[in-house]
Amino acid sequence: MCGIVAYIGNKPAFPILINGLKRLEYRGYDSAGVALYENSGLNVLKKEGKVAALEAFAVDKASDSTLGIAHTRWATHGAPNDVNAHPHLSADGSLAIIHNGIIENYHSIKAELHDKGYAFESDTDTEVLVTFIQDIRDTHNLSFEDAVITSLSKVIGAYAIVVINQDNPDQMIAARKGSPMVIGLGDGEYFIASDATPIVEFTKDVIYLNDEEIAIIQRDGYRITNTSNVPLIPSIQKLDIQLEALEKGGYEHFMLKEIFGQPESIADCMRGRLNARERKLTLGGIREYANKLVNAEKITILGCGTSWHAGLVAEYILEDICRIPVEVEYASEFRYRNPVIKEGDIIIAISQSGETADTLAAIELAKSKGAIVFGVVNAVGSSIARATHEGAYLHAGPEIGVASTKAFTGQLTVLTMIALKVGYLKGTITESQYGDLLYELESIPKKVAQALETDKRIQEISAKFKDATNCLYLGRGYNFPVALEGALKLKEISYIHAEGYPAAEMKHGPIALIDENMPVVFIATRDSSYEKIISNIQEVKSRKGKVIAIVSQHDEEIERMADFTIEVPSSHEALMPLISVIPLQLLSYHIAIMRGCNVDQPRNLAKSVTVE
Ligand code: AGP
Ligand code: GLU
Repeated sequence: MCGIVAYIGNKPAFPILINGLKRLEYRGYDSAGVALYENSGLNVLKKEGKVAALEAFAVDKASDSTLGIAHTRWATHGAPNDVNAHPHLSADGSLAIIHNGIIENYHSIKAELHDKGYAFESDTDTEVLVTFIQDIRDTHNLSFEDAVITSLSKVIGAYAIVVINQDNPDQMIAARKGSPMVIGLGDGEYFIASDATPIVEFTKDVIYLNDEEIAIIQRDGYRITNTSNVPLIPSIQKLDIQLEALEKGGYEHFMLKEIFGQPESIADCMRGRLNARERKLTLGGIREYANKLVNAEKITILGCGTSWHAGLVAEYILEDICRIPVEVEYASEFRYRNPVIKEGDIIIAISQSGETADTLAAIELAKSKGAIVFGVVNAVGSSIARATHEGAYLHAGPEIGVASTKAFTGQLTVLTMIALKVGYLKGTITESQYGDLLYELESIPKKVAQALETDKRIQEISAKFKDATNCLYLGRGYNFPVALEGALKLKEISYIHAEGYPAAEMKHGPIALIDENMPVVFIATRDSSYEKIISNIQEVKSRKGKVIAIVSQHDEEIERMADFTIEVPSSHEALMPLISVIPLQLLSYHIAIMRGCNVDQPRNLAKSVTVE
């Protein structure tokens, strides 16, 4: 989720900022920029694209100023381009800000500022924030520090910000809530960054700022306060992990970091959209087209790989909750088979990268036949996001590991919110069902965190199956697509042949494969098909198959039957894929590691398949 870097001290800031941004490139971004304090005014240099492009553009425009801020942007509001890149200036040019996160109530603040005569250059929520700080400072005649603190008390959302002020060459103010920030304590110099990677080469002494804390940093010292300006005593940590480990947040691989980051990424997907207590569900991109979804005679879902699996889960949810017929298509097949698409047909295209060639081509084909296309995409401003008529971004943050994990659960979260919204508007679910599902969806991050606690048990089980040559994944109903996803995860990172199958289909052939060498993973959590899946487990056991079962807590019956069980928390059947997929992600990860595979960049694979 982007990167921030700031410096105040006795060295030229520009090289420190640019190298700091390069250290943060692994986090993913679409544009970058710096702002330097100069006597003639705040010098803002920013560009869409890579940090190297910014460096080439800025190097002869940057002074040797010793105070500056810098940013790599992962767009959430406003497409990736030069204007929307950070830093952003306040209306009078006196303040410059960099921001990581989302200001959820920026719409209402922007409207207020508009009415007061302010104009905006960019489409970002960040520019609204820095203008808001200026307005509060000028309206109430406040100090820079008090204006920042007051504005943040009125802001809803997540932020890690650093602000510099043309009227004060010796100060920068930082604050965080929900987005990470580290302060480096040098000798007569201070550093701020999203993580310690830009800092560790200069100092090992750091402060990890906590949520709702403010740092006022001067050349000769710093203060930390809370949002009521009460001074706090920070704890100074000594960095002792290597650079590479820092980029992965202390995890061995990006994939593991992203698996364990799912409680936060799922919460980020709901941030500013779902409020169960107020029974509110707002999906900006769907609002205008909601009636088209509500009145759709059928919905066609397009995707590839994991995104196609998310589409299969969405099929069950949309048919179950909205009573709308759904077809899920491999984009690569849809685009070549001359599909029957009528004017006004509704299509949902799912893509993490937003750059998958087959999905993009399928969208263009559908549009050429008059279909209306919604995108469920992670990468803001990507080709697929721009090709669709409307849609909803995941806000799951950049996914670095080639094997998709947090994007899958992010897709399920957004698709479930769309289904709930449409079902509520259509009246195909009652008020109380709607309210219950909102609360249950809101509780999912906690339940995913509990499912992650099975990691040690999964490592033990992985050791027993790491040398398997084949593996079957079986599920029913909502968990059938999860079986497919679990098999894909194992295939693509451990190179073991694995197949997902509807459990009931086993008797139509695949059961011939079962013997003592065939591990069979059942997703067998308590739901409407529980009794049936029990019989399927018995069928496999009676043919000496080895059974690993993902089960609900305290399921003694399957405990007695299976060779290994992994317990996960329960939830509404429609939300169980968000939980039952977690142990399958961990199982594939640990088996792949035990086989010495490169889990972040598996052989033959690309993160985004931009070729046919
Ligand atoms: C999933 O782990 C794979 N990396 C792959 O199947 C991926 O889901 C597929 O290529 C689609 O990518 P997209 O979501 O970026 O369109
Ligand atoms: N919401 C801000 C924007 O879209 C910041 C996004 C980020 O974290 O990079 O510009």
